[in-house]
Amino acid sequence: MYLWIKAVHVIAVISWMAGLLYLPRLFVYHCDAPAGSPQSETFKVMERRLLRAIMNPAMILAWACGLAMITLDPGLLKGAGWLHAKLTLVVLMTGAHMAMARWRRDFAEDRNTRPARFYRIANEVPTLLMILIVILVITRPF
Ligand code: HEM
Repeated sequence: MYLWIKAVHVIAVISWMAGLLYLPRLFVYHCDAPAGSPQSETFKVMERRLLRAIMNPAMILAWACGLAMITLDPGLLKGAGWLHAKLTLVVLMTGAHMAMARWRRDFAEDRNTRPARFYRIANEVPTLLMILIVILVITRPF
């Protein structure tokens, strides 16, 4: 049972990450599309579907499976500094998700004022967090 939950966890995490890495790219391209243009309207549909159909359910599933594993094996939390560090980074990842949901709403209402450069930099945040999380769960350094 535990291993099945872990498998679903990894599948959910991969789907969530795909969205976290792609949505800010869409924002970069969206910055170049004038408000009200057909391209801008297409980006709005792509952004809404990505967030609602993929990212939100994937994030909820990743959290549910992660917390289920901790509930099934509470000993995981004892003396596992890597898991505490990972959970801290995952909370930051969830914060990045929430920020992107806010930015998507700004685009949907044609009131984005941030430049493309802002979203290019924002794109690096989930990348960096993902690298650190995977190193922590695989090498378990402390
Ligand atoms: C959303 C909240 C999350 C929670 C509560 C959570 C919790 C957990 C737990 C308890 C395990 C099992 C560890 C074990 O069996 O020893 C696990 C495994 C794993 N998690 Fe997460 N996790 C979360 C998000 C993430 C994210 C965002 C990533 C990657 C970016 C990730 C990558 C992994 C990987 C690769 C494993 C398998 C590690 C192994 O078995 O060696 N998790 N997670």
